[in-house]
Amino acid sequence: MPPREKLFPTTKVSAVNMDALAASAKEASKHAYCPYSKFRVGAAVYARKPNPEPPGTDAEAIFSGCNTENANYTLTLHAEHSAIAKAVELGYTDILAVVIYTPTETATAPCGSCRQVINEFGPRAVVVATCDAEGFSPRWNMSKLLPDAFGPHNLGKG
Ligand code: THU
Ligand code: ZN
Repeated sequence: MPPREKLFPTTKVSAVNMDALAASAKEASKHAYCPYSKFRVGAAVYARKPNPEPPGTDAEAIFSGCNTENANYTLTLHAEHSAIAKAVELGYTDILAVVIYTPTETATAPCGSCRQVINEFGPRAVVVATCDAEGFSPRWNMSKLLPDAFGPHNLGKG
């Protein structure tokens, strides 16, 4: 098992504008399409583009997403996955930080599927859950959220 924390040291929160990320996640939650669960989720990722073209253009950016449900429940897209898909589409394949927001009194950790998706692009991501309660927002690294993960290294990648 590769020593993941050594290979992918977790992003320091001080290196990321967490306030901007949290604001973006909250804004995205307003657009959640959740008529079935009525559970709004917003997520924002801070991502880096490995080779910006033309050189000198923005190498880092924030992308957001919301949960998008479907009458066929199993097709529901989760907020975190949606945000990451937007980042990847534009070449920002290195996820440094993730913020999740729910308009609730308790913070919501990412589900198992989202942990797997975050791990693919952000093994060193710091993940923070925010909500409407005052005070501490739980924060994790990926080895905590997905210990001994199945990932790109199992297929000889990354
Ligand atoms: N949800 C997310 O968007 N992200 C998660 O990781 C947890 C669950 C959404 C899916 C569904 O629309 C609602 O929350 C209730 O499960
Ligand atoms: Zn999820």
